Amino acid sequence: MEIIKNPQELQKRALELRAQGKKVALVPTMGYFHRGHASLMDAARKLADVVIVSLFVNPTQFGPGEDLDNYPHDLERDAALAQEHGVDILFTPTRDSMYYDDHCTWVEVPELGVNLCGKSRPVHFRGVATVVTKLFMVAQPQVAVFGQKDWQQLAILKRMVRDLNIPVEIHAHEIVREESGLALSSRNTYLTTEEKNVAPLLCKGLKMLREMVEEGEESAARLKDELEAFYAANIPGSRVDYIEIVDPDNITILERVDGPALCAVAVYLGKARLIDNLLIKV
Ligand code: PAF
Repeated sequence: MEIIKNPQELQKRALELRAQGKKVALVPTMGYFHRGHASLMDAARKLADVVIVSLFVNPTQFGPGEDLDNYPHDLERDAALAQEHGVDILFTPTRDSMYYDDHCTWVEVPELGVNLCGKSRPVHFRGVATVVTKLFMVAQPQVAVFGQKDWQQLAILKRMVRDLNIPVEIHAHEIVREESGLALSSRNTYLTTEEKNVAPLLCKGLKMLREMVEEGEESAARLKDELEAFYAANIPGSRVDYIEIVDPDNITILERVDGPALCAVAVYLGKARLIDNLLIKV
């Protein structure tokens, strides 16, 4: 596995690979790999001849007071895991090599960013869409793999490539969970043992909602109230950022669950802000 730090060097390498007729897959990440990242790498391996994984904690998607400076990292461990999973190139740029001091060009998909995480993290999706566009230009992939845990991010990136005619196929990968149901996340490392014991109830609550929908409940208000009460009663010390039921493609808020519906939640637990989601009607 090659480790490339310099964006210009990777772009040159990727253009050469494309000229040789190779299919390139990109897995954009912020590092501190877990089984979820590994399964994205495995999926990419099946889709392309060359797998590039980017490891970059992108400053522009963090707001003031968020965990940019404390984001967990362990490059040596990450490189070993990437190698084990057949990654060909690990791209580890510095902040300065990715952004000029006077960077002022942004990619925004505002309509899909008004709800859920976009509401509580106002600059987040502008930063994500911009850095992913830059990574696409640098790594020149034909396909890019993202996890469904960040459902809103995926919806935004799918819309972005559609609207801007970017020739990259977005491949969505299902959420990887602990046996307990807890969705894997690098930020789970912020949880204490006690918090880790109750965190799987986030997912249990979502499944409870799906059952209510299967039994005929259509009122989004009633479903959300039920889930809020479940979290309040069962996850001591948690604080709900949002519980929403949305259209899975447009991320618009639904009042009735009478068609495809996604329930998405963000909950603060100790130092962590956990997100999860489930399609409660397909
Ligand atoms: O999902 C993430 O880890 C990040 O938002 C991404 C896509 C790597 C962009 O920084």
